[in-house]
Amino acid sequence: MADGGAEEEQVEKWVKYYSSFHEILLVGEGDFSFSLCLAKSFGSASNIVASSLDSYDDLINKYRNAKSNLELLKNLGASLLHGLDATKMKFHNDLLMRKFDRIIFNFPHAGFHGKEDGIHLIGMHRKLVFGFLGNARGMLRADGEIHVNHKTTAPFCHWNLHELGIRNSLMLIECVDFRIEEYPGYSNKRGASPRCDDSFPLGECSTFKFIVSPAVKNGKAGNLDLARGTSQALQLIPNPVHLLQKQPISFNLLHPQMISGGTLEHTGLPLRSHLRNECFRIFGKYLHHAEETFGRTDYDVSHSVREALRLGYKSYMTGDSGRCLSGYISMLQELQHQSILRSTWLRNRLAEVCDLQL
Ligand SMILES: C[S@@+](CC[C@H](N)C(=O)[O-])C[C@H]1O[C@@H](n2cnc3c(N)ncnc32)[C@H](O)[C@@H]1O
Repeated sequence: MADGGAEEEQVEKWVKYYSSFHEILLVGEGDFSFSLCLAKSFGSASNIVASSLDSYDDLINKYRNAKSNLELLKNLGASLLHGLDATKMKFHNDLLMRKFDRIIFNFPHAGFHGKEDGIHLIGMHRKLVFGFLGNARGMLRADGEIHVNHKTTAPFCHWNLHELGIRNSLMLIECVDFRIEEYPGYSNKRGASPRCDDSFPLGECSTFKFIVSPAVKNGKAGNLDLARGTSQALQLIPNPVHLLQKQPISFNLLHPQMISGGTLEHTGLPLRSHLRNECFRIFGKYLHHAEETFGRTDYDVSHSVREALRLGYKSYMTGDSGRCLSGYISMLQELQHQSILRSTWLRNRLAEVCDLQL
């Protein structure tokens, strides 16, 4: 109580995207240093549920700082769960009635079961993230977000998180560079093998942010072939011309005049400039062609779309080295995503205008 008898107001504290006022669930923790980083910065962990797949005993054996990190977290008021499988967590007794503002999985990894670029292991990783997203989806508060920190170079980009989100009716709203120095004290862990306590080189990595969105229709999750992300992902990509015909307002989505300062003009939505330039390099000619032929009934649209996709792929592959089909598919999905965001934004503005006129 303060002097006047009024209850002392709590001051909100932020660490990057995480607030001391958020209810936060962390899964797949290694030595719990990420959870502790948040807790220390907030000055309390009463809003944090931190969990690991490992049992308590395994954690103590695997990570030299686990014991002290867990003790500190407990003293700060965190709820700690061990043996929590992120792909089944929604059924866990302690989580049944809980909803969260942020659910975080840092660098999910299914273990070292073969070559990292092998189809089998990629399938295992995808199955893990798919299961996690499917569980986390139902555990969010309104406006809640699921965050996955993940490497973005090959072979990790082949996990195709964006598609795994779509399959769970989750929209990828942002994919922002992850910088470990913004989380003081966090030490990323390999998590398995005799070197489980070692950190792995992060290289290029991002925070993938997902929200539940009715705009993203649930894919046929039951038929998902997790080992074959790329070919299945291709089926998800709508015919771009049909998309345009349904939403003619998206016509100039990639046209430079519509885009300024790294955002889609009028929407404030971020679009990375290198992606913007790449998209325009690859599809600019096609988009002009689509504009010119829009509405014509004497024109074989499906042929020109197939051609655009084929030529687009060839053109894409002439870019930086190390490119592959799944990168091309990710770019197409990013385009679709931007188109959906822009349509949603325009619909909302329209609704506001209509409200004003009533
Ligand atoms: C590369 S380590 C990252 C550890 C930690 N998140 C970090 O950033 O330091 C991958 C982690 O995923 C966890 N994991 C694997 N499968 C899991 C599952 N089904 N549920 C929860 N965690 C899982 C492992 O236990 C391991 O801690």
